[in-house]
Amino acid sequence: MSENNKKRGIRSYKYGPLTGEADIPGDKSISHRSLILGALCVGKTRIHGLLEGEDVLCTAEAMKNFGSTVIRHSCGDWTVDGVGVGGFSEPNKVVDCGNSGTAARLILGAMSTSPITATFSGDESLIKRPMERVISPLRLFGTQFFGKSGSRFPMTAVGTKEPISVEYTMPVPSAQVKSAILLAGLNAPGKTTIFESELTRDHTERMLESFGANIGVEYNKKGKVITLEGYPELKSQSVTIPRDPSSAAFPICAALIVEGSDILVPNITLNPTRSGLFQTLNEMGADIEYLNKRMQSGEPIADLRVKSSRLKGVNVPSSRAASMIDEYPILSVVASFAEGKTVMRGVGELRVKESDRIHAMAQGLSACGIKTEQSEETFIVHGNGDNGVNGGVDCSTFLDHRVAMSFLCLGMASKEAVSVDDYSTIATSFPNFKNLMENLGAKFEIA
Ligand code: S3P
Repeated sequence: MSENNKKRGIRSYKYGPLTGEADIPGDKSISHRSLILGALCVGKTRIHGLLEGEDVLCTAEAMKNFGSTVIRHSCGDWTVDGVGVGGFSEPNKVVDCGNSGTAARLILGAMSTSPITATFSGDESLIKRPMERVISPLRLFGTQFFGKSGSRFPMTAVGTKEPISVEYTMPVPSAQVKSAILLAGLNAPGKTTIFESELTRDHTERMLESFGANIGVEYNKKGKVITLEGYPELKSQSVTIPRDPSSAAFPICAALIVEGSDILVPNITLNPTRSGLFQTLNEMGADIEYLNKRMQSGEPIADLRVKSSRLKGVNVPSSRAASMIDEYPILSVVASFAEGKTVMRGVGELRVKESDRIHAMAQGLSACGIKTEQSEETFIVHGNGDNGVNGGVDCSTFLDHRVAMSFLCLGMASKEAVSVDDYSTIATSFPNFKNLMENLGAKFEIA
């Protein structure tokens, strides 16, 4: 959390339509990976459009602590002088991962097959999150972990001197865990093999290939098989980071529910492992045009034009969950304005994000007069359609940036203002959220 760990409340209220262009910051997942892969190269990696959110800054600081030279030249333009695969040195302070599960899990993987010891910690939210899912496969390489009970942070990792190669079947769909295993496999002999039955975001596979690793991806009836050969010499790159679809989701969804809106959101990655929200919004009847489709740094990109729309509730199948896992909080807001119910299945992973996102969203939406239902794996929102949403409530955000942004978007379209208890966490992923939304015509009042 930024600014001396002080909670900061804010209120958003209905004002007028959202119009103009939304210049979304760089993709968070690709930003973390650029810094880590840059640190694992010999030579200088140039990064353009890095997301300068608190989560990514934790990864930048960590890469320095493991021995790389990481320099910020100007806004979004960074270089990393890497130490090469197996070249990490032992950090002489605790690796602070802040609020970021991605920083925590990817860096645990990247250091675990080097003969060094490091202690990891994070904020009040991160220390509650499960780490067994990542340390269990990393133990197979020979690494030891000593964490708080329940395998939570703070945790010390004792990297292995003699890693062995690993074959692993993913028990939960998690790109963070998959990526941790691949990063560990870089410094292990032979082949690291991962079987994934539910496809998750594939930025690590794409980026490892472009950094020169020998990585194979095959699909069969059971899913995806990834094979990585150990000890590659990664080659430094120039990486241009596309804009984050998970951040773009907020102005896009706000424009759909705020009457009369018409916005343009350029340069958004439509990588199929990230675009489940767009598919769902299309099925709900959203007026979204995908303009100027093209490729950039191996990612499919388009400019999105979004107009406010009358929406209907839909069934979102569990097979789509991984491709929109961070977008369910804002989808549940959109669903409140739709006609009929939206059923989101297979969303149990939302319970172990920065907060229990089903609980957080159900609590705020119910206070606004929206009927919700939930079970361990399912979240249902009964939309009010043309009757609109009341608002007029204070919502708890549970140290969760996406919960905070979702309720602020709700306030832009609800009958009465919506307050959130803390917007400081938004800086973890979308530091200019408030300014960007204000430029589109949104209004906020600091509480
Ligand atoms: C991420 C993967 C997802 C996502 C997170 C970023 C990544 O987490 O929720 O915001 O960059 O790999 P899981 O892999 O735990 O589902």
